[in-house]
Amino acid sequence: MNVTVFGTGYVGLVTGTCLAEMGNAVVCVDVDANKIARLNGGDIPIYEPGLEELVRSNHAAGRLAFTIDPAPAIAHGDVIFIAVGTPPDEDGSADLTHVLAVARTIGRNLGAASVIVNKSTVPVGTADRVREAISAELAERGVTIEFDVVSNPEFLKEGDAVNDCMRPDRIVIGTDSARAIGLLKDLYAPFNRNHERIVLMDVRSAELTKYAANAMLATKISFMNEMANIAERVGADIELVRHGIGSDPRIGYHFIYPGVGYGGSCFPKDVQALDRIATSHGYTARLLRSVEEVNNAQKSKLFVQIERYFDGDLRGRTIAVWGLAFKPNTDDMREAPSRRLLEQLWEAGASVRAYDPEARQEAQHIFGNRDDLTLCEQPYDVLDGADALAVVTEWKAFRSPDFKRIRARLARPVIFDGRNIYEPRVVEAAGIAYYGIGRGRSV
Ligand code: UGA
Repeated sequence: MNVTVFGTGYVGLVTGTCLAEMGNAVVCVDVDANKIARLNGGDIPIYEPGLEELVRSNHAAGRLAFTIDPAPAIAHGDVIFIAVGTPPDEDGSADLTHVLAVARTIGRNLGAASVIVNKSTVPVGTADRVREAISAELAERGVTIEFDVVSNPEFLKEGDAVNDCMRPDRIVIGTDSARAIGLLKDLYAPFNRNHERIVLMDVRSAELTKYAANAMLATKISFMNEMANIAERVGADIELVRHGIGSDPRIGYHFIYPGVGYGGSCFPKDVQALDRIATSHGYTARLLRSVEEVNNAQKSKLFVQIERYFDGDLRGRTIAVWGLAFKPNTDDMREAPSRRLLEQLWEAGASVRAYDPEARQEAQHIFGNRDDLTLCEQPYDVLDGADALAVVTEWKAFRSPDFKRIRARLARPVIFDGRNIYEPRVVEAAGIAYYGIGRGRSV
């Protein structure tokens, strides 16, 4: 099938590449000429395991093309995906500027009947606005062309995006058009093997499904962080509690890890946007607001512990930090808890020596050169002259460290484990003080 994808961010690039891998002829369009030039040169602008090889091989095989020119790309597509960003605007609502700009471009160039598929996370009702924007352009041109607008939200996770796209749990298709359903069922057939994964629904339910999924996951995390804060005060260990409740299949072991709060480009933005959607329809989403509030407080958790440990005075101290990305296997630092920690440490007069396996460049880009930040090239280099070590991202490389080496190099051996990746006993046996999240003790 001929497929066109607008937007070469995570969602667009991964979707386009996986569809090309299945043998479709895919054209990806972006307004960013620099990005398109890089992609045409085989240079992937994001770090995503497995993606680079797939982009290169499909590009070389002639199944995956990148362009800034929308007109031929629109003529090419039997199916046209919209996968551009929906950043939060000032009040937290999803900003539809890019989505509607693509819709107008489609309307200005559409030459034959087509199916327009929205993959971006958008407020309920956006498909109608996309349809109106396309219709308005067609009317301006004085032409009548049949088209459908479908909601087909994406559920990929950064760091595992190729796998999520190739082996989806579910494929949500929101439309009432039989023609669109037929076309998308054919397109997704290779991803829909062994058992039925396609969930058909109306377009508004599909749009809400995406927000509901992310809000539910964010709720699980905030709930566990709240339990951790209680555990810490009552002298219980949240890690044991996690096992105790996860064994109930109604609760499950997944996504109940307490930590320094959720970050990334999706949960913070989507919980806020859903809250705004509810408000704009006259409903106060109390639970969503609490989820956000708990998360916001949790992002300061490590700093509060560190500050207390040093008796409220961090001036002249150096804190070593392991992990800057919002989670492992990505270089993404959007809304990363590390950013809050670093800013609070600097504010309090401390310096930071940080290491991250992938996000070094990103951190350099975000923070620039400053005297109170050293971005190290090796994990143990962060310890030189440091007073304490804080673990912010649970990269595998941090899981079994040489505690003796840490103890020998820290001025006042202590680890603040923001992801509960260590056993307190093991760390303490190595002569290092240990503070995790909700592990029965606080500073
Ligand atoms: C999330 C969802 O997991 C995807 O299903 C969804 O498609 C995607 O958003 C999206 O809307 O595009 P992602 O943001 O890539 O994916 O990252 P997650 O793996 O979900 O992690 C989000 C945050 O939650 C991270 O900061 C992570 O550290 C934190 N987290 C996750 C916890 O603190 N505890 C957990 O148990 C799980």
